[in-house]
Amino acid sequence: MFARIDHIGVAVESIDDALALYDEAYDMTLVHREVVEEQGVEAVLLDVGENHVELLQPLGADTPVGKFLAKKGPGMHHVAYQVTDIDAELERLRAAGIQLIDETPRIGIRGSRVAFCHPRSTGGVLTEIVQPAEDH
Ligand code: CO
Repeated sequence: MFARIDHIGVAVESIDDALALYDEAYDMTLVHREVVEEQGVEAVLLDVGENHVELLQPLGADTPVGKFLAKKGPGMHHVAYQVTDIDAELERLRAAGIQLIDETPRIGIRGSRVAFCHPRSTGGVLTEIVQPAEDH
């Protein structure tokens, strides 16, 4: 079961430029900033109540988010649903016929465990399943 929306992922050319909107105009609080080499991004999390916006800046053109930007430009990239048991959830989704990009969870931002579902099988929405680290 999905507990709630964890975050909305937004692809940006520059996190620092995007913060003019999210930090200054929207007045969201920046709570975390991290380079996630494995995913080819620098990411920040901003608080929106108990949920987040995740801004994603590619580390290079030849990364998933870099290719996304080249093809579609900045904007909505993915939605992330929070779960308490990602292994069980992936089994359930696989059994339901969802095409998984990650067959097993990988390490995401702030030590979370994450896996992505292919938009081909989710109505065009790149969907992330996230199990936060124990201390978040
Ligand atoms: Co995400």
